[in-house]
Amino acid sequence: MSDPITPFKLERYFAMYEFNTRYLLSPSDCESIPLHALLAMADGECQILWDELNLGYTESQGHPLLRSEIAKLYQSVSTDEVIVLVPEEGILIAFQTLLKPGDHVVAIFPAYQSLHEIARSIGCRVTPWRVQLRDGRWFLDIEELEKSITPQTRLLVINFPHNPTGFHPTLAEWQRVVDLARAYNLYVFSDEMYRYLEYSEDARLPSLVDVYPKAIVLGGLSKAFALPGLRIGWLVTHDRQVYQDWAIYKDYTTICNSAPSEILGLIALRARERIVKRNLQIVQNNLTAAAQFFDEFKTMFEWIPPVAGSVAFPRLALEMPVEEFCRQMLEKAQVMIVPDSMFDYSGNHFRVGLGRKNFAEALGALTKVLGSR
Ligand SMILES: Cc1ncc(COP(=O)(O)O)c(C=O)c1O
Repeated sequence: MSDPITPFKLERYFAMYEFNTRYLLSPSDCESIPLHALLAMADGECQILWDELNLGYTESQGHPLLRSEIAKLYQSVSTDEVIVLVPEEGILIAFQTLLKPGDHVVAIFPAYQSLHEIARSIGCRVTPWRVQLRDGRWFLDIEELEKSITPQTRLLVINFPHNPTGFHPTLAEWQRVVDLARAYNLYVFSDEMYRYLEYSEDARLPSLVDVYPKAIVLGGLSKAFALPGLRIGWLVTHDRQVYQDWAIYKDYTTICNSAPSEILGLIALRARERIVKRNLQIVQNNLTAAAQFFDEFKTMFEWIPPVAGSVAFPRLALEMPVEEFCRQMLEKAQVMIVPDSMFDYSGNHFRVGLGRKNFAEALGALTKVLGSR
């Protein structure tokens, strides 16, 4: 039986505080790029496309040039295996078209809520595959994953680099996950929204779509490309039936993408090296600031440095519940912090976002309050 969808806790929390709080300590995106700066990166072809843009409906699967630029991010993907959509829409469409009531899904946990909630609302049984904290590091137990697979398991959901912990597997660990999926013939939804935010090129994993035929991969411009306001993402797969089901479903969500966003997205992808380099620099600076801050307050917090991506999930080591701590910091320091309950997690953790330029200032506002306790 399908169930009504429940409120998206993290998004409701952001809706309350994102636009009326002085500092945000927990956003997952990178400092967004202003329109004029993005336009300055346009090549000649994109400049003409932008200047002469007609604001009509666009091609439902996405602008052919944009789809072809997206396909270049992968080794094995052709333009007609790419559908452009809003990232969150991609999760909805992929799950709605692949799953039916009674299916079993194994999904990484904690996670961006839609990665398990949509399956649950369809009437699937969802088994969390828990990211665990061991010896001060996040860790995924692959044997536990194997134990949770049943004959009804249709889909495995993964997300690397991981939101909210900053966990990222090694190539060998990731390969074991792929081997398991192959052995049990599972579809795998691989949320790769934070791909390209690895701290060294060696840590970047191949995209799942390049190694596994039943991969469904989500990518987008909201995190590593610092353009969440474009609302541009994509799904890719080699499975023709799966792809056609997405195209049919999309007529009931957005029909097609925003015309200006598609051209701006094309500009961004063609300038990707510059954009990603800029964002990684911001993240690196913020990692240094975070290490200093958490060292200064090491009796209050357990800092768990992320391995990749733009988020981390440290622990409040006080007796105080983390929700109360976040409430106090909002009131006293004007700093919004997301507690772990927004991920249905209960370990007194909170999310830290490392992509914004005023991160050190936000820590400064916390320091003023915490230093005077
Ligand atoms: C893991 C993950 N997947 C998907 C999304 C959705 O991206 P968007 O908000 O751009 O639709 C997010 C956003 O935070 C995310 O963290």
